[in-house]
Amino acid sequence: MISDEKQKYDSKGYLLYEGFYTNSLAQSIKEEARRVIHEEDDERKILEKSGVARSFFSPENNSDLFYRLNREKNMLRLVKELLGGEVYTHQTKINIKHALIGDVWEWHQDFIFWAKDDGMPAPNVLTAMVFLDDVTEFNGPLMIIPGSHQMGMLQETQKAASNHDKEWNEKYVNTKSYLSALSADLKYTLGQQEILGMAEKRGIVSAKGKAGSVLFFHGNLFHASPNNLSPWDRYVYLITYNRVDNQPDFPKNPRPAFLANRDFTPLEAMEMAYPVVSPEVCQPDIQYPISR
Ligand code: SIN
Ligand code: MN
Repeated sequence: MISDEKQKYDSKGYLLYEGFYTNSLAQSIKEEARRVIHEEDDERKILEKSGVARSFFSPENNSDLFYRLNREKNMLRLVKELLGGEVYTHQTKINIKHALIGDVWEWHQDFIFWAKDDGMPAPNVLTAMVFLDDVTEFNGPLMIIPGSHQMGMLQETQKAASNHDKEWNEKYVNTKSYLSALSADLKYTLGQQEILGMAEKRGIVSAKGKAGSVLFFHGNLFHASPNNLSPWDRYVYLITYNRVDNQPDFPKNPRPAFLANRDFTPLEAMEMAYPVVSPEVCQPDIQYPISR
């Protein structure tokens, strides 16, 4: 029998749970995130133009807390139900949008990166975004277009207007080929026509919520996020789960394992000591159009 959650996920391409985890757990994870980013100064730390860290990949390599969170039993139960089988993590990352200077994520679909760069066969893949800070209209929430995953993976489209710095690209982004999938000047983006066509039909919603909330979204969902002009950081942790029967057929020069995991062992649920709350599915804010 298909659950209500699965039905909603299949039609909208996302589920947002307010209070999936408690505020205090979110706070502990954020502290751990800061520790790992500070202590582990290696290629897994991706920088922004301002020199601050934008992302940090595979924190579970150095952290029991992240290792357990990837396998947390409520998370895993829901993800297996939404994807319809056993899962492993294809990619995990902490994304930081620093107060005042945190940069944008252009409109894109995730699956095209995994299909083209990693050889993933099908979009049986989703991402759980765990909010480690309150996410508000001020600090760069994820903007999503409901139902846009049903378009499937669009081929590379004309890049929407962007304002990126060529010099910075030459100095940093072009030093390693994989950085073009991770910087603010994204490699595979959606074009204005595609975004407009979907947004006119379905509107744009903004995924906001308290620290501890979790957004689950489909690999083909159109999404983007604006910069953080608030005086507070926005930390989130993104766990990309792939079905074990959807293992990538990696190209000859694959991306490093910290970006595209090679361990396909099905994840086993783990307990985490944290106060139990009853998470509720909630509606993200409808921003535009008002209702359709
Ligand atoms: C992403 O698209 O992978 C992340 C966007 C964000 O951190 O806002
Ligand atoms: Mn994305």
